[in-house]
Amino acid sequence: GSSGKFFVGGNWKSNGTKESVKKLVQDLNFAQIPSDIDVIVAPTYVHLPYVVENIKDRFQVSAQNCWVGKAGAYTGEIAPEQLKDLDVPWVILGHSERRSLLKESNEFVGDKTANALAHGLKVIACIGETLEQRESGQMYNVLEGQLSGIADRIADWDNVVVAYEPVWAIGTGKVATPDQAQEVHAFIRKWLADKVSPNVSSAIRIIYGGSVNDKNAAELAGKEDVDGFLVGGASLQAQSFATICNAN
Ligand code: G3P
Repeated sequence: GSSGKFFVGGNWKSNGTKESVKKLVQDLNFAQIPSDIDVIVAPTYVHLPYVVENIKDRFQVSAQNCWVGKAGAYTGEIAPEQLKDLDVPWVILGHSERRSLLKESNEFVGDKTANALAHGLKVIACIGETLEQRESGQMYNVLEGQLSGIADRIADWDNVVVAYEPVWAIGTGKVATPDQAQEVHAFIRKWLADKVSPNVSSAIRIIYGGSVNDKNAAELAGKEDVDGFLVGGASLQAQSFATICNAN
């Protein structure tokens, strides 16, 4: 396992209205969250300013994406400087929904990771295989390609958390078994030890995402190399999210 703190992220994806976000922030502000873990919430871009201003300092805020370069003539994009300016310290990059729906390549995700880190953001870098890739024996190749896309472009991993999110487990209710998660997390840690450095491998948090809920979180968290979670659906409900935060 990692020497770092347990890490729980709530990825709100493209969910929420002014009203529902206000309610969720209010509920989270009342929730019992252990003091010794990192807790991150990632609202949509449009809700970021409200959440930054209204959520307790106990929570850290994340964007769900950012631009690959500087601010400028890039219609529709949000640059790392703009997130920094809003006091948003984190960004999720390489989420499978963006890799598949928006055709983001391993190289592009790596470039965005390097750019975000260079601008002082911390990155939750997501990787994960599809069911077809897993069943055809391509899983480790796919994961290596995704990791290399990042490792080829960054030197300092201090501000990176790796999220393993098997695509077949995302939003499906089909959570990976604790053994399946552990197997891949151990593979990622070993890959980092071999290809990056033993220090990075032992310090980095490797978190699991995909149908994590208040019922299955504790057993997953019991696995040696599961250092936390990236939670989608269950993060929209403060009580479930708080229970997951207490799963370690
Ligand atoms: O980033 C979190 C995610 O993709 C998992 O979503 O809804 O299966 O928890 P969900």
